[in-house]
Amino acid sequence: MNAMDIVELVTPAELEAAMRDHLARRRLPDEFLYLGPEGAGQWLDLDESAAFGVASDLTDLLRASVADIAAEVPEDVTVVGLGVGGGRKERILLEALPPRPGRRYLAVDVSRPLVETALDAVADLPVDACGATARIDDLDRLRPHAEPPLLLCLLGNTFSNAEPHHLLEAVRRWLAHGDHFLFDCHLGPDPRHDDPAWRREVEAAYGSAENARFNLGPLTARGVPEDACRFSLRLGRVPSRLGPTWRTTKTIRMLRDVEVPFEGGPVRLNEGDAIGMGFTYKHTRRQVIRWLTEAGFGVRALFADRGRTNLLVLAQKGARSHR
Ligand SMILES: C[S@@+](CC[C@H](N)C(=O)[O-])C[C@H]1O[C@@H](n2cnc3c(N)ncnc32)[C@H](O)[C@@H]1O
Repeated sequence: MNAMDIVELVTPAELEAAMRDHLARRRLPDEFLYLGPEGAGQWLDLDESAAFGVASDLTDLLRASVADIAAEVPEDVTVVGLGVGGGRKERILLEALPPRPGRRYLAVDVSRPLVETALDAVADLPVDACGATARIDDLDRLRPHAEPPLLLCLLGNTFSNAEPHHLLEAVRRWLAHGDHFLFDCHLGPDPRHDDPAWRREVEAAYGSAENARFNLGPLTARGVPEDACRFSLRLGRVPSRLGPTWRTTKTIRMLRDVEVPFEGGPVRLNEGDAIGMGFTYKHTRRQVIRWLTEAGFGVRALFADRGRTNLLVLAQKGARSHR
């Protein structure tokens, strides 16, 4: 992989300033978890960890469905991995598409080390690969780097880390007719009834020691001792336009005063401060389809695993649903 193959739409200096700004307001959105060699390395470890089954279940679902997906999309698609991480899922897709000289692949992530990892992951494939460091919000600026028709992939449950109507609206604006959108998500049970056993299971998976270490990573990588902060995660029901839905709430509680160093000057955190983090929705299958339909997408293909706890959706804007 050549450093010239990566377009930088968000710079390390912008990310450093943004993280300082958020932390000063006691916020730590999830995009900061994956930055730098430490964040990227911790994510890749967690992604492979047996304690975090959601990741491997989604990979298994993609493997089981990939031939059908390849049959649905045009032969000459450009594969775009958005929030690509280590790019293992996009590699599975690229291998399943019919071999074609000059097949284009664009690996996009907020984390430069992850874009580099994703490009390295396809170095032995006959693809014309390039990368971009960009935020999901930068979709508009990515268009010149992505030649249609596109297969936009948002995999690894990243769909669940966003407000669905905002995300789908951004994707719909970005895609042209004829492009495809592929995303996966981990589902929850009917939120009209509580399910304490399921809640405990999810809280245990997301609250494991590995996950806690990953979530504290942006602070510990800057020298904050692990015992100066505590990570907690709760799963509960929140209202939405489509009725109640499951959502995690993640918090870091400071156990003593610390200074977190930044280029623009340190941020002081005080004992007792609660730092609000990102979230993960656990929609039902019906809710996912309704969000898509309301945003103007048609479902081209829908894949679920045996337990019907994970969903993989191939959608197209303006298309009629084939389900
Ligand atoms: C849950 S991981 C999924 C990674 C990968 N797609 C997979 O399936 O393993 C989310 C990915 O999205 C990236 N990410 C998080 N917030 C982002 C943002 N605002 N813009 C772009 N990428 C983001 C992270 O760096 C990370 O690689």
